[in-house]
Amino acid sequence: MQIDIDYVTVATTILGGVIIGLLVFHFKRWRMYELSAKFDGPTCIPFLGNALLFLRHPTAKIWQVNRKLMEPTFSRMFVAASVKKFAQHSKTLVKNMEKELDGSEFPIAEYILDSAIDIIFDSTMGSTIAELGDVNRRFQEITRKITELVYMRLFKPWFYWNVIFYRSALGKDLLSYKAAFSRICEKAIERRKKLVLDETREKPEENLYNNNDGTEFEKICLLDHFINFSVANKIDKFSARDLHDELTTFIIAGYETTGFAMSSVLFLLSNFPDIQEKVYNELYEIYGSDDLDEREVKYEDLSRMVYLERVIKESLRLFPPAPYQTRFVTEDTKMDGHILPKGCIWVACTFNLHRNAKYWENPLEFNPDRFLPGEIAKRRSHCWNPFGVGPRNCIGKRYGMMKMKTVLATVLRKYIVKKDTFVPISEIELKLDIVLNTVLPFKLRIEKRVPKDPAGS
Ligand code: HEM
Repeated sequence: MQIDIDYVTVATTILGGVIIGLLVFHFKRWRMYELSAKFDGPTCIPFLGNALLFLRHPTAKIWQVNRKLMEPTFSRMFVAASVKKFAQHSKTLVKNMEKELDGSEFPIAEYILDSAIDIIFDSTMGSTIAELGDVNRRFQEITRKITELVYMRLFKPWFYWNVIFYRSALGKDLLSYKAAFSRICEKAIERRKKLVLDETREKPEENLYNNNDGTEFEKICLLDHFINFSVANKIDKFSARDLHDELTTFIIAGYETTGFAMSSVLFLLSNFPDIQEKVYNELYEIYGSDDLDEREVKYEDLSRMVYLERVIKESLRLFPPAPYQTRFVTEDTKMDGHILPKGCIWVACTFNLHRNAKYWENPLEFNPDRFLPGEIAKRRSHCWNPFGVGPRNCIGKRYGMMKMKTVLATVLRKYIVKKDTFVPISEIELKLDIVLNTVLPFKLRIEKRVPKDPAGS
């Protein structure tokens, strides 16, 4: 039997179906479009959608489960124990930077990111990137490319459809970088899984969590936490895919953010030597000695670095690594005389908030004393919001602050960071992708610090 297919009719029917589907979809959202048009800024474009459509999807049930599970990992004990790892990696960073001593200006981020990668890999998977065979900063390149490509996709609405996107050159590039990223992570997961499971099998009553010798938190990494959970509950809660997805979120969220933040702090201090001197004086009061082996940074020192903390906060104000945050609006919400309509995605631009003259006097001035307790009390809460607020805020906030303090204190005890010519903040060109970045890399030079004369002469 022969069936005659009228291709024109089939094509017209499909096209008609798609058009009707789109019309119904957008008709239902018409009220949202009308309300959002009343806001300042670019209006959203019906039929094309708005750029952040797929960023914070509301049906993130899996998020609730995983967030709950991750929270203990960031307990005080775990963070405190991590400081030891931060200190060790910071010493390697200082050593690596030696080759730039007394030379010309160099891009600081490359060194900082190397160290940030090692710290995040050590914390999440228990190995350093070198142990995984990564050479020539390939991992840095891969993550940079992934965030760039994801960001480029956001502004090309026709790429929201996977069928189109993954057939394009951009999509294929993203797939190949993701595959390279996954290979490194999978290698780390396998390596660690073997170690933890072997250890649990050999001494089930004394696994990494239960050895109770006070060092358990120093040994574990995030992956152990997931594996132990699965073993303890006798369930395969985390498939290889789940593990991979959770850990890669951590790596992406935790490494570029702190890497950019620490590079900005060092750059600002090189530009403002008086402020750098105050930071150093505080460190000198804590340590007395510049010998990192004799007296490395410890958890209990961090609460005494109050000035350094103000410097980091001021730097996060001027250069927030996560420059915007998004939320799915689940019900009509009144704000500033407008209604945020249910169903839209709300983007809060932290970068603009942090440089808004309404909240910050001389916003482009670098002034860590804005974070003196008295000054904070004068401001509205949440004017400073680098880590987000609410249940979906940054889970690694405390861990990130401790890591930055440890690394920066170690570097600044050893080196003076300098600029040949002062660069005004207003002249630093920035570019936005998933994480904030500079158009030109932050450059500075370093000199060895001459230890102070304890007699003060
Ligand atoms: C300077 C450092 C950091 C900054 C500025 C930063 C900023 C942020 C921001 C703004 C969010 C979104 C919050 C929101 O939408 O309300 C976020 C989420 C997140 N951050 Fe961080 N972060 C930093 C460091 C870290 C570190 C070190 C880690 C992990 C080790 C981390 C892990 C995460 C994770 C997993 C999320 C998603 C949380 C969730 O959806 O439940 N972050 N971060």
